[in-house]
Amino acid sequence: MNFEELYQIKDEIEQINRTYDIFDEEHRLCSKSARVEFLTTVKYIEKYLRPGMKILDIGAGAGAYSLYFAEKGYEVSALELADNNIAAFRRNIKPEHKIGLTQGNAVDLSCYPDESFDIVLMFGPLYHLHSEDDRQKAIAEAKRVAKKDAVLFFAFIGNDMIFITELNYDSNYIKTGDFDQETFKMDDFPFVFHTLDGCRKILRDGGIEILREVASDGVSELMAEKINKLDDEDYETYLRYHWYCCEKPEMLGRSNHLLFVGKK
Ligand SMILES: C[S@@+](CC[C@H](N)C(=O)[O-])C[C@H]1O[C@@H](n2cnc3c(N)ncnc32)[C@H](O)[C@@H]1O
Repeated sequence: MNFEELYQIKDEIEQINRTYDIFDEEHRLCSKSARVEFLTTVKYIEKYLRPGMKILDIGAGAGAYSLYFAEKGYEVSALELADNNIAAFRRNIKPEHKIGLTQGNAVDLSCYPDESFDIVLMFGPLYHLHSEDDRQKAIAEAKRVAKKDAVLFFAFIGNDMIFITELNYDSNYIKTGDFDQETFKMDDFPFVFHTLDGCRKILRDGGIEILREVASDGVSELMAEKINKLDDEDYETYLRYHWYCCEKPEMLGRSNHLLFVGKK
């Protein structure tokens, strides 16, 4: 599979599935720079997580978050769409993990009863669902299966930082890049990109009360080469710096990934 072939696939679900024939999700969060997103997200989930809580991980990928929390003894239900990610996830489940892994689409969580989870994670479907109708269906389903006092976490890919990140990879990007020259809206392929205000509107339209907004990885991809060379002590300090400023309003538009914490 290459990008040309992927582009030709018109069925959205099949296109999402085949996207992960190209992207290696299992190893995406392994480098020090990429791990900033994971460690920041975990830090925020742990602010709300209490012993015995039930977690639902929607768009679980290769299981980074599900496996992390299952290893800590939590009962995790995970829903994932892509064949490759399901296979990678299954390979890493240990017999002692309390994980229920289901292959499916975030817009239909009928395999889960109403009000059954304390913590609901949606880190993936909103990177891929193109229609507002589908995004709202996914949010409505997440709300339905969330308990009354559940905390819901949503991640988006930030349109305005991706331009800078792409330019950092390719200095021709301004001439050749896949973005609207007037509005700087990135083409939604193979991922779907949102501005900060766009994310807020999607969640508010879905009836989510936003509790926190977090620049989950900030400039970490832009700075990857430098961050990956930090020794462990300096990396800890970089993380502390990132956590010191990742909720500052002026940082939010300058992050490849945006994390929203909310209630229904
Ligand atoms: C970039 S990965 C992120 C995986 C993991 N949640 C994480 O944050 O590391 C996005 C994941 O969302 C999944 N996904 C996208 N749209 C989906 C949908 N409609 N239903 C279920 N999973 C979906 C993809 O297959 C992919 O595994």
